[in-house]
Amino acid sequence: MKILKLTISILIACIAIFGLQNCKKEHYPEAPVCFQEEVLPIMVSNCTQSGCHNSFDKTKGLDLSNYEGILRGVKKGNYHSSELYTVLVNEFGDIMPPKPYSPLSDEQIKTIARWIDEGAKDIQGCGPACDTTQANFAANVFPIIETFCNGCHGTKPPQGGISLATYADIKPFVNNGSLLGSIKFESGYSPMPKNGSKISQCKIDIIEKWIKDGAQNN
Ligand code: HEC
Repeated sequence: MKILKLTISILIACIAIFGLQNCKKEHYPEAPVCFQEEVLPIMVSNCTQSGCHNSFDKTKGLDLSNYEGILRGVKKGNYHSSELYTVLVNEFGDIMPPKPYSPLSDEQIKTIARWIDEGAKDIQGCGPACDTTQANFAANVFPIIETFCNGCHGTKPPQGGISLATYADIKPFVNNGSLLGSIKFESGYSPMPKNGSKISQCKIDIIEKWIKDGAQNN
């Protein structure tokens, strides 16, 4: 009874202070953006293509394949004055990544802005939960490829002449073994994502399960 009374008083206090909307469950704070699983893959896939901001070419002195390099464009806590953000939305100058690459999606830009606002921390071993029991192409496999690979392999012309933009594009690389070989860093294949670290074992397991189940367009 005491607990019930306490809960009700807290709820009333919350409504009084924040209004009804903010006291609903969906307004609980979101989990902080995970650098390793959410920000780094966007950077590696969209900024470190050949001739761009990788550790070899270092265009404009920038290597965006690691935390230290990325941080150089960041004013922690203030995305509006962070070059890493302003070049993505530049209204007057050139937007990054430049043509023929596609601009980042609104969702990706928001993730980067939120990460900067949250202090641009090097958070490792985090990110959305990964579940290996589901391995369908559209819901589970393609989102991984979009995030980690398609800054390079989704554009026209794709890096290395290899397009992974659609199911039909991806299937031949399943069939010749190079998709799995490259993400598992097996010898005989170029390790992928190029310039990045291996994707998590859980994500590799999802792709492997999908292939074992027949690599269907499901
Ligand atoms: C930064 C750009 C970049 C990213 C990110 C990237 N690739 Fe690649 N990929 C390349 C380039 C360039 C090549 C051509 C071979 C080379 O230069 O190593 C290539 C080659 C490949 C090949 C052929 C490999 C072989 O040995 O025959 C496959 C398959 C592939 N990529 C899949 C992927 C997958 C899957 C991902 C995401 C997990 C990915 N790539 C991420 C740039 C990239």
